[in-house]
Amino acid sequence: MAQYLEYGFDGRVAIITGAGSGIGEAEAIELAKGGAKTVLFGRHLEKLEKVADECRKYTNDVLPLAVDVSSRESVQEGVGKVLETYGRVEILMNNAGIESRLKPGETFFNDLFDKQDEETYLSFYKVHAWGHYNMNLACIPSMIENHFGRVVNTTSVTGIHGNYSTPGYTASKGAAITQTKAFAMKYGKYNITFNAIAPGMVDTPMKIDATPREYEIVANKTPLGRVASALDIARCALFFAQENLFVTGQCLTCDGGSDLA
Ligand SMILES: NC(=O)c1ccc[n+]([C@@H]2O[C@H](COP(=O)([O-])OP(=O)(O)OC[C@H]3O[C@@H](n4cnc5c(N)ncnc54)[C@H](OP(=O)(O)O)[C@@H]3O)[C@@H](O)[C@H]2O)c1
Repeated sequence: MAQYLEYGFDGRVAIITGAGSGIGEAEAIELAKGGAKTVLFGRHLEKLEKVADECRKYTNDVLPLAVDVSSRESVQEGVGKVLETYGRVEILMNNAGIESRLKPGETFFNDLFDKQDEETYLSFYKVHAWGHYNMNLACIPSMIENHFGRVVNTTSVTGIHGNYSTPGYTASKGAAITQTKAFAMKYGKYNITFNAIAPGMVDTPMKIDATPREYEIVANKTPLGRVASALDIARCALFFAQENLFVTGQCLTCDGGSDLA
């Protein structure tokens, strides 16, 4: 697709985690449009297969793989298959994420904020911080070998200024932002960039519990006047995946300006 020509995606090997829905799905489809060899990671292969079919409209090289980013073994096995198939990894979108589900009538602030057990609390770190760490470590050797890597981490505005969602979620997203900076410092000399995007509210399956009233409140306090789509956020992420990039260790807030309010 012409719009991505100067981003240099054509022929690049790109892994997108959490590619079976929402932001990851949009990132995968856009990368496929740009001609990338598009690798989809997520825990449920059937979801990935559907997105893969969409990606195949734009590129022949699409590889969906069932990988749990919170498991070092699963990540090593998955990235090993990518290296066997394509010989390298050049773009990594660390996007997989989880949030607690609300029961009918519950709110994050009143019902989940101070009631989470250890396993649930740490599960956020396992996906959002440890998951990025696992993926980075598995992909970096190939990036060093080719003196090229673009890593983009989906975090959250809640990781910058906190909010009423579950504290484990918020804290793990903050950890993901500072971890992005740490990797940027260490691997910049190999032409590997690490940047983060921090979305506000996005209309994806993760927000299945949000009421129409919550959507309305966020839209009303957003200068751009609406809640983000997955594609809005994918476009921000793709900026950091481009070939000619002299930016690393940064976190871009993508919330339509709502944090100004
Ligand atoms: N939606 C929002 O308002 C919002 C706001 C700020 C930040 N974010 C962040 O944006 C990212 C994408 O979320 P989304 O909104 O697009 O929600 P989503 O549609 O629920 O996508 C998250 C994806 O991550 C995958 N995933 C979860 N745990 C995984 C694991 N251990 N290993 C591999 N894949 C895993 C899920 O698929 P499987 O269950 O099949 O593995 C799912 O497809 C997340 O990091 C989220 O925290 C979202």
